[in-house]
Order: sequence, then structure tokens, then C-alpha cells
Amino acid sequence: MTGRLTDKVAVITGGGNGIGRATAVRFAEEGAAVLVADIQADRGAETVALVQEAGGQARFFSLDAVSPDDNDAMAQAAVEAFGSIHVVVTAAGITHADYSSGDLEADLKMAAGAMEYADEPARAFPESDLDNWRRVIDVNLTGTLLAMQACTARMLDAGTRGSIVTLASIAAKHPDAGPLAYTVSKAGVWMLTKKAARMLAPAGIRVNAIGPGFIDTNMTAFIDLIETEAGISPLADMIPLGHKGQPRDIANCALFLASDESAYFTGEILHPDGGFFTE
Ligand SMILES: NC(=O)c1ccc[n+]([C@@H]2O[C@H](COP(=O)([O-])OP(=O)(O)OC[C@H]3O[C@@H](n4cnc5c(N)ncnc54)[C@H](O)[C@@H]3O)[C@@H](O)[C@H]2O)c1
Repeated sequence: MTGRLTDKVAVITGGGNGIGRATAVRFAEEGAAVLVADIQADRGAETVALVQEAGGQARFFSLDAVSPDDNDAMAQAAVEAFGSIHVVVTAAGITHADYSSGDLEADLKMAAGAMEYADEPARAFPESDLDNWRRVIDVNLTGTLLAMQACTARMLDAGTRGSIVTLASIAAKHPDAGPLAYTVSKAGVWMLTKKAARMLAPAGIRVNAIGPGFIDTNMTAFIDLIETEAGISPLADMIPLGHKGQPRDIANCALFLASDESAYFTGEILHPDGGFFTE
């Protein structure tokens, strides 16, 4: 099926890698023009090229998700490039303060830091780093809010009905699915989604979240490495389907939530998670 987003304009934060990139490509396949926003300009440009090679329309915007000015300029750039905004996907996210998508060493360092508490796990709670907490909440939660505010302001100005899709996580509901600040930030994204759904419903703007399980992107690459080195596979034990999902699995979920097929969904979270939440 094609054309499910014909004549629609989508803004995708975190569009330079992983889930955001797959969503940009998937949306373009269905006819949307896409503004790809990311802090990694080179990767964002690659996404734009992928969309254009497939015959779609895309532009890159250099975004730091924590900046109100950047978010405002991003929404303005989408309107100037494509005329309006119908769909917003907020995929920009980090797992820890030093996260830079594709920097495996920083992720392994974060994982090694967590292992330091193996003998006295409870101590990890009072000793959790405040700067890390602030940065993760800032990017994941405040960044999501800022993108939503900047884009919905334009949608309301133009009287455009539409769909916002946030990226939460299974970690929004399950404390074992990520580090402290990450799980709390994603629980915040989930409540932000529900609150915004109620506040924006009168304007015909729907707001839903995706809460993916473990997806095969830069964000989870370090887990594979640890598993290989340790000769264990905890993920396989946690996921009934036995493997990670692919970015396109999440893009398809985002497509459903972005399109009119989900017209009666708002304030909902969908969990493409390979069965993680079957317990
Ligand atoms: N991969 C998973 O298993 C998984 C599971 C649940 C939720 N998620 C969420 O999905 C979203 C996408 O993650 P992914 O797995 O595709 O990882 P990813 O690293 O491939 O993509 C994250 C993107 O966000 C961008 N980004 C980071 N900080 C930014 C900032 N300050 N401003 C603008 N862009 C910034 C990165 O450059 C990158 O392109 C994230 O919010 C993540 O928390 C991922």
C-alpha cells in the first residue's frame, strides 16, 4: 500500500540515525515530505539523500533538541520549505549524558560504570550522577516537549489537524529496561503524550507514543558486544520473539499512528516489543 501520507509534511527529530531515519524513509515512501532534524549533520544529510534517492522530498535541519530557539526555527523551516506541518515524530534521544549515536566506546564506558556497583547494587541509587540526570531529562523529555510546542504552534496558527508521535520506550513502564534517568525520562514522555493528547484534542491534533522494546540501532549495539564477550544472551531471555526489532518495525508503527488509519487513537502507547510486555 502506498500514498498513506500523500501531501503530508512530517518533521522528524533524531532523523539522522536508527528509528528516526527509518521513519523518514518509510514516510517518504508513503508520499510525505520530510524535515529531518538532528544534532549529527552528516548523518542527517545521509537520511535526506536516502529519501531523495527513493524519489521523496526531504530537507535537513540542524537541531539541538534542548534548544527552544532551534526547535522554533525547525518548525519554521518546515513551514517555509513545505508549507505546513501535519505530522511530528520526536525520535531524538540519548541513554546517558555522553551518548553520541554510533560512539560505542561511550556506551561501553556507561555500562562498565554500572558494573562498578555489582557488589553493592543499592549504592548506585544515591550515587547516580546529577549532571547525567539533568542532561538525559533535558534531551529526552524537555526536548520532546519543545519540538511538540514549536510544531503545534504552527499547526494551530494554520488550523492544521494532524498527528504527533513521541518515542517513549518499554522503559516508560518497566524500571529494568534502562538506566535511572532514561527510564524516568521515558515515563515522562508517556505522561507528556497523554497530557498533550487531552490538551490538543479540541484542535484535532492526535498525540500518541511508541514504546519500543530493544531495537537494532546504535543505541543498543553495545548490548550485543557485551553479550558476545560474556557469552550470554539476556535479551533473548527477555524477548519472547527471541531477537531485537528492526528500525523499520518502529517506522511502520509510526506510519500507522501518523496516518488516518489510527484516527480514533489519541493518548495511547503502542509497544512493538517482541512480546516483552507479556509477563
Ligand atoms: N533502540 C532502542 O532499542 C529503543 C528502544 C526504545 C526507545 N528508543 C528511543 O527511540 C529514539 C530513537 O533511538 P534510536 O534507537 O534510533 O537511537 P539512535 O542513536 O540511532 O538515534 C537517536 C538520534 O537522536 C539524535 N540526537 C541525540 N541527541 C540529540 C539532540 N540533543 N538534538 C538532536 N538530535 C539528537 C542522534 O544524533 C540520533 O540520530 C530515542 O528516543 C530512543 O530513546 C529506542
